[in-house]
Amino acid sequence: MKNYKIGVIPGDGTGPEVVREGLKVLEAVAQKAEFHYETIVYPFGGEYYQKTGETLPESALEEFRKLDALYLGAIGHPEVKPGILEQGILLKIRFRLDQYINLRPVKLYPNVWTPIKDKGPEDIDFVVVRENTEGLYVGAGGFLRKGTPDEVAIQESVNTRRGVERCIRFAFEYTRRRNKRKKLTLCGKTNVLTFAFDLWERTFYEVAKEYPDIQTDYAHVDATTMWMVKNPEWFDVIVTDNMFGDIITDLGAMIQGGMGIAAGGNINPQGVSMFEPIGGSAPKYTGMNVINPLAAIGALAMLLDTIGESEASQMVENAVIKALESGKIKSMSAGKMGLSTQEVGDLVASWV
Ligand code: IPM
Ligand code: MN
Repeated sequence: MKNYKIGVIPGDGTGPEVVREGLKVLEAVAQKAEFHYETIVYPFGGEYYQKTGETLPESALEEFRKLDALYLGAIGHPEVKPGILEQGILLKIRFRLDQYINLRPVKLYPNVWTPIKDKGPEDIDFVVVRENTEGLYVGAGGFLRKGTPDEVAIQESVNTRRGVERCIRFAFEYTRRRNKRKKLTLCGKTNVLTFAFDLWERTFYEVAKEYPDIQTDYAHVDATTMWMVKNPEWFDVIVTDNMFGDIITDLGAMIQGGMGIAAGGNINPQGVSMFEPIGGSAPKYTGMNVINPLAAIGALAMLLDTIGESEASQMVENAVIKALESGKIKSMSAGKMGLSTQEVGDLVASWV
């Protein structure tokens, strides 16, 4: 029997509460699908930083490399200056473990409210493949004459042929494996970002030749946000750069029912991947047992799929759907679910 080593970073705010429910579902599915696992819990986050002055030590990264996967709750603390934990923990793990794909499904489940009128689960079901190690996120650039009236701030987007190609290739493979509408849309800005997206566009159509079964499409990022609201059914898989992917997946989270249900995976197909609910640490709901754990449970399903337990992954997703179909969860929003965080976790676990 397989025995997986799963690193768990509950993190800040409501992170530990949602992770607890995810682990509850993991225990239920491990019994049914017959695999073993071991969890190694790491203390990193805002409180750990305040106590030790350390965000993420080098030794932890070395340990992470030996895991099968990482499961993250949330990072972000109201008393820590914005940027420190994000860069020191979240982005550091993404970059250093070379998790070059950020996979973010936008799927409206039954009984989940969407702000888009007249659209249902059959219309809202696509996946964003966001490049996760390059672009504007690399921190290239700097200041000149900082603090003077002549100040200059430059922040460059770094796009390498290798980085762009591996992301695009993953997206084509994923579209094929997903086997739905078999359509891949490149989301860019070729009319203005004439260097970066020239590289993306050329690479996209070159790689496309190897995938004659996949229909290709292109949309500028601004138009993409428009279509996501007006005709979300046009999308199957969208591939895009780091910054655009960040922005459009918040919009995606909203049309699939909100942060309470949006999950994502930071994937290194050859290495160790990390799965997380997309939402933040929600400090004002901390410890109240009212936060929605479905995003964390969805992230667990993605984790299982990536480590090779696709049947177990499907069982978790089906359990989420059953729990939603039961009508017992009144809303995806914190405090409005009609059930507590733990009760939602129990409900899903009971359907596994
Ligand atoms: C996300 C978040 C992060 C990002 C922040 C917290 C650095 O917004 O996961 O989408 O920009 O990637
Ligand atoms: Mn974001």
